[in-house]
Amino acid sequence: MSLSARAETNAKRTGTALIWQIIQNLWEPTTNPLGYISLGVAENLLMHDDLLAHIHANTKATSQALTYGDGTGGSKRLRASMTRFLTKHLRPVEPIQSQHITVTNGCSSAIEHMSWAIANPGEGFLLGQPYYGTFKDDITLRTDAHLVPVPFHGIDPLGREAVAKYEEALLKSQENGVKIAGLLLCHPHNP
Ligand SMILES: Cc1ncc(COP(=O)(O)O)c(C=O)c1O
Repeated sequence: MSLSARAETNAKRTGTALIWQIIQNLWEPTTNPLGYISLGVAENLLMHDDLLAHIHANTKATSQALTYGDGTGGSKRLRASMTRFLTKHLRPVEPIQSQHITVTNGCSSAIEHMSWAIANPGEGFLLGQPYYGTFKDDITLRTDAHLVPVPFHGIDPLGREAVAKYEEALLKSQENGVKIAGLLLCHPHNP
């Protein structure tokens, strides 16, 4: 079986990221003492015991979880819960509502869906530097959108002064023929 022409092109564009070879051979004191200790992923091992205790004590699957549930955008219960959580922590000017939330199977899928839905091929997304490396593939690979990096040169990436940097990058991108379709804000500590 051969790959489609577009998969062939994308496979050439992405190459082989070292992280996926490393992750298959991780150090474990008894079963894999010669494996790698990876510092290349944003996993917080210090929280595992607390998170597992919380998850085991507080979650219980119902039979509805084994069905198509409330449709493809996430259960009503999860969306209501995310609505409360995000409104509380992001303190938006207007409260977030359940219908604003769509749940996906992971962060990469969410970003790719968004890029596909918001940008026409050839349009770009602004993203502050430094950023998580796979943003580029998630935003561009299957959508033919562009990533337009925004350097801050020491300015707080979430401060007021950053607005001028975003504007500068937007205008420059438009001069280069790439219309900006959206701005992706990511926590600067990731990772
Ligand atoms: C921006 C971003 N995209 C993707 C991922 C990968 O996660 P997932 O397996 O949910 O796609 C992460 C993980 O931390 C992330 O921070």
